Amino acid sequence: MTRHFLNLADAGGDAIAAMIADAIDRKAVRESFPKGKQDPDAPLEDHILAMIFEKSSTRTRVSFDVGIRQLGGSSIVMDSGSMQLGRGETVADTAKVLSRMCDAIMIRTDDHDKIIELAENATVPVINGLTDLSHPCQIIADLLTLVEHGKALPGLEIAWLGDGNNVLNSIVEAAGLMKFNVRIGCPQGYDPDQTFIDAAQAVGANISVHRDENEAVAGADVVVTDTWVSMGQEHVHNKLAAMMPYQVNDAMMEQAKDDALFLHCLPAHRGEEVMPSVIDGPQSVVWDEAENRIHAQKSIMRWCFGQI
Ligand code: CP
Ligand code: NVA
Repeated sequence: MTRHFLNLADAGGDAIAAMIADAIDRKAVRESFPKGKQDPDAPLEDHILAMIFEKSSTRTRVSFDVGIRQLGGSSIVMDSGSMQLGRGETVADTAKVLSRMCDAIMIRTDDHDKIIELAENATVPVINGLTDLSHPCQIIADLLTLVEHGKALPGLEIAWLGDGNNVLNSIVEAAGLMKFNVRIGCPQGYDPDQTFIDAAQAVGANISVHRDENEAVAGADVVVTDTWVSMGQEHVHNKLAAMMPYQVNDAMMEQAKDDALFLHCLPAHRGEEVMPSVIDGPQSVVWDEAENRIHAQKSIMRWCFGQI
């Protein structure tokens, strides 16, 4: 059975915990290595990862490319505009062809149904590098960062402030799988996907949505935000004004626990969803979070190939 990583539930809580542990171990082994040096065991030697980008990316693109090289494999990076996919070749045909030529496919796209169709027609693992619905790879890196910084996941109180977007959907999904709680401060009309909330609550996670930003952030262990305007939403007007009360600034951080950490998947917009004093301040772990994209992707790929 081919292992696809379209959402976190495809792996489940035990596998996510194993991926985090694997990433911590592998990161330690190569601490003093140059970035391009292979890991000593090269567990994905000779494997080729095809990457398709229908949206911009810095971290996802570089971390998967560096990650597969460290595992002993290589990658082919394609922008959909330069592929026949961008000229109307079907997703199904693309999946079949890439499955004959490559060992795994990572795709960043808009419509989540497209990635489901790709996976249904692929005979190699398909990995979600972000859709409008979810961003599961990001959350493995986020959880890895929290664990590294001494936060035990079960019972953790995570406050999300701002837009109820793809990144938040995956955090909510993770809450159910890893048994932490999420308090969401967001304006009316910008709630996360109810399906993810229902699924997390059904397994005991406490997910609450607040219009009052102070209720969401009070006493939190972790404060998270993301851009107010996700890729593909550039046409949305009047959103910034609605989001302004949820900006993560010093006054907001003061309401969280003294040792609260700040996460942001990046790219950030200083002065909008977060102030420079927070993202560039002592509670921010965003650079560890960004680096951890590499270590997380490697463990995700190893899981896809049954090595975890
Ligand atoms: N966080 C994240 O996915 O960054 P990129 O858009 O640069 O890949
Ligand atoms: N929510 C953002 C995440 C970028 C990594 C977007 O979809 O643009």
